[in-house]
Amino acid sequence: MHLSLSDKQREFVSNKSRFSGFVGGVRSGKSFAGTVKCIRHALRKRSVGAVVAPTYPMIRDVILPLWRLLLPKKAVKKFSQTQNKLWLRNGSVILFRSAEIPERLYGLTLDYFHLDEAAIVDRKTWDTLYSRIISTKGLGFITTTPNGHNWVWELVSNNILTSVFAKTLDNPLIDPEEVENAKKMLDPKFFRQQYEASFEAYLGQVYDDFCDTNIRPITPDATLPIYVCADFGWRNPTALLWAQQRPDGTVEFFDEIVESYMTPEMICAILKSEKVILPSGKRFQAKVAFDEIDGLVTGFEATQSRQESGGFAMVDQLRRNGIDRIRIVGGSIVRGIFLVRAKILSASNKQKLFLDPSLKRLIADFRGYHYPEGVIGKSSELPEKDGVHDHTMDAMRYLITMLDRDGGKWIV
Ligand SMILES: Nc1ncnc2c1ncn2[C@@H]1O[C@H](COP(=O)(O)OP(=O)(O)O)[C@@H](O)[C@H]1O
Ligand SMILES: [Mg+2]
Repeated sequence: MHLSLSDKQREFVSNKSRFSGFVGGVRSGKSFAGTVKCIRHALRKRSVGAVVAPTYPMIRDVILPLWRLLLPKKAVKKFSQTQNKLWLRNGSVILFRSAEIPERLYGLTLDYFHLDEAAIVDRKTWDTLYSRIISTKGLGFITTTPNGHNWVWELVSNNILTSVFAKTLDNPLIDPEEVENAKKMLDPKFFRQQYEASFEAYLGQVYDDFCDTNIRPITPDATLPIYVCADFGWRNPTALLWAQQRPDGTVEFFDEIVESYMTPEMICAILKSEKVILPSGKRFQAKVAFDEIDGLVTGFEATQSRQESGGFAMVDQLRRNGIDRIRIVGGSIVRGIFLVRAKILSASNKQKLFLDPSLKRLIADFRGYHYPEGVIGKSSELPEKDGVHDHTMDAMRYLITMLDRDGGKWIV
């Protein structure tokens, strides 16, 4: 197949830097360029590469079709759909993975990786992939639309990534009229980010007042009420967060765990502060045991029966394992978000929500939790359930909603 790349794509594909980025507007040809770059590596010499996208459907619907389109058929030995693994005749192997469970990327040794739409995944995915290429002195490249001043912006602005910037219109296949129409309809900041690849600060961020001063060291204090809040999942991760409340209403988060495939038994062991080996292989022990906790706060989903546990609801399974004092929180999401925003920074400029600096996931989620694209101005819209940031954000919101309702007192 004859390939013709746009100027920006060519610049990115031929860039020899160890770490490179194609920062582009929507449909500027990012995924296409990233795929071409990978294929060149895979064909040039026997190598192991990983292609990572934020979710599995993005691998299936965006990445794999591009590989089918661009990789010469004669180069392919076989492809396993169950393993999402591709073997080439020259001995090269390519693994296709979603970033939903970064722990699954542990243990790989890679010659290169391609992270598509990097700006909407957690920095942990980058860190994990980076650790997989150290021993091979391998290459890493990302292709992404900017997403505020997040970790991608940091890497790009510190020149850790050698980057090419492409506007949507740099793809010759795009009809300029389409872009003109978008310009008329969208908020100017949003337009600049999505079509001109500009890193706009805090665009669409739900908790845009969250800043570094909301992060400070926190030591659990047994004299304060302590709560654990939870958003239960299975394939989607379960998020457990531990926090204490000061008499003035300040809420301090000091422990977190976010993991997929945790059984109710494992969750109970974690709550009891037993030492556990998580499905990802990591070890974890909660700082405070359930005996010292005023209660567990979660949402209505926990009362619904779950397929992966033979139809039992999570709350029943927790109770059966000795976890009582469970509080189910309902109420409107929009109101919950409003309450959280007021804790982050009140109208009188007081911060009443703090996170310990070790809570990497919670910090990244506060920064990354955002409204869906293209809905600027429609204030009733709910934040995006992007499968990345929403789990800790739901758990945290249950707690803040509950504390507001009770004025901080636990009602059994
Ligand atoms: N160099 C190219 N030659 C042919 N088609 C291209 C090229 N670059 C991009 N495209 C097509 O343009 C569309 C947008 O490209 P894509 O890489 O999916 O954009 P992005 O990832 O930036 O949203 C896709 O249909 C893709 O196949
Ligand atoms: Mg893409």
